[in-house]
Amino acid sequence: MTSASWNRVHLAIIVVLLVVIGGLVYTFVVAGSTQPAADGRVAIVLDPAERALMLREMREFVAGVERVTGALARDDMPAVAAAARAVGSAKARGVPVGMLGKLPLEFKTLAYATHRGFDAIAAAADAGATSRQTLTALSELLGQCVTCHARYALAPPPSTAGR
Ligand code: HEC
Repeated sequence: MTSASWNRVHLAIIVVLLVVIGGLVYTFVVAGSTQPAADGRVAIVLDPAERALMLREMREFVAGVERVTGALARDDMPAVAAAARAVGSAKARGVPVGMLGKLPLEFKTLAYATHRGFDAIAAAADAGATSRQTLTALSELLGQCVTCHARYALAPPPSTAGR
């Protein structure tokens, strides 16, 4: 082979690798693992342990909202900060990488924004925010829960598929 044709072979290999890498990045970072849900939402397909982890984190979100609103009703701003921080972004670091790859980019963005919203509520409460200001911030944050629930569902676990 001439050196010109070797160059073409190398170029072709590089292009193929770039396409493969691009495809992997697209799948793991942008698209995730999804299927259409019967109700028109996008259903994320997770294995049973990942599904349980996600739903547990969701229940922690509600528990966090309960504690924040309870503390707000007592005007106990240190307790507001502690309750909000407990569901803040430190919480999101425990998500396994394999599971992150199954979540669409928009989902991950909304999820991190929600965790960071709790961080912001905690920081503001520490910095002297009033309970009314905090309630406004919490109400805006709850809008993100509503937005995500309107767009995304979890695919049913295999044992109940087709039920
Ligand atoms: C990034 C997307 C997203 C955000 C943000 C989000 N959720 Fe969820 N949540 C989901 C999905 C997906 C499910 C599964 C729903 C389904 O399959 O119908 C779910 C389920 C739940 C459940 C049911 C848990 C169970 O055990 O069945 C609760 C409660 C919940 N979310 C609360 C919240 C609260 C409160 C917030 C905001 C503080 C929130 N979620 C924010 C995506 C999200």
